[in-house]
Amino acid sequence: MSNSATLNRVAFIIGGGSNVGIHVALKLRQEGYHVALGSRNPDAAALKEQDLFPVSVDGTSSASIKRAFDLVRTNLGEPGVVVYNVGLHYQPPLANDPLSVSSDDFAKSCNLEHGVFVAAQEALASFRSNKDSTPKVFISTGNLLPFLKDMPPSFLALASQKVTMATMMDYASRAYAAEGIRFHYATLVGPDGAIPNLDPRAEVGFFNSGPAHAEAYWNLISADTAKGWDYRFTYDGKPFK
Ligand SMILES: NC(=O)c1ccc[n+]([C@@H]2O[C@H](COP(=O)([O-])OP(=O)(O)OC[C@H]3O[C@@H](n4cnc5c(N)ncnc54)[C@H](OP(=O)(O)O)[C@@H]3O)[C@@H](O)[C@H]2O)c1
Repeated sequence: MSNSATLNRVAFIIGGGSNVGIHVALKLRQEGYHVALGSRNPDAAALKEQDLFPVSVDGTSSASIKRAFDLVRTNLGEPGVVVYNVGLHYQPPLANDPLSVSSDDFAKSCNLEHGVFVAAQEALASFRSNKDSTPKVFISTGNLLPFLKDMPPSFLALASQKVTMATMMDYASRAYAAEGIRFHYATLVGPDGAIPNLDPRAEVGFFNSGPAHAEAYWNLISADTAKGWDYRFTYDGKPFK
């Protein structure tokens, strides 16, 4: 028997801070999902109090990501929704010298790109093993760097992460669409479609955009037909047009 009352909806979020991660997690819990929220050092007691399943995971380590998926599968079931939310901004010591980022930091940045790939692979295996009618959706948290030209040199590492992430979402979205599996690169933009306000003190901007991300990600997950892989939304969580 398979109807919405008996379906086991499971979501796994990798990179669960106080902005995007927790708001997306609580929205999905409210919509009836069992939600695993992962970061390197989760506040297990606080998450359990909110009926969320805490997972220790390093989004830059393939072994850690695989272990985390196994933990989620064993405890909650196969996830039908996976969100990859980690982003690492390694600034070069010399702002105009992109190659002054240390080799070790750039390697960590590349490990994050590998981490997104492994998370997408694990998600695909889960999505395929779960034959019920629940949505199968992978969302990576983006920014506009893959689409902008002439950005400051200090963004080299972060831009590389997001270019890889966006490319992966584009290719995977096209390759698995026929199976009903969706991949998205979801980006908060300002009302004019440009980079959102990044000032932590701004009344409205990226740093208080958790509710907008929750709304936008739920719109992607609950949509009857798939939206495009490159999905942009504004401060109210509505699509940017
Ligand atoms: N639209 C835009 O223009 C824009 C602007 C800014 C940021 N962003 C994107 O937004 C995302 C993050 O936003 P946010 O507000 O949720 O950030 P956040 O509040 O800083 O949360 C990120 C969480 O990720 C966890 N984390 C850090 N490194 C990790 C790792 N290696 N493995 C697993 N978890 C890790 C941290 O917890 P632990 O310390 O416990 O691991 C942290 O709580 C990034 O993808 C970033 O690139 C987009």
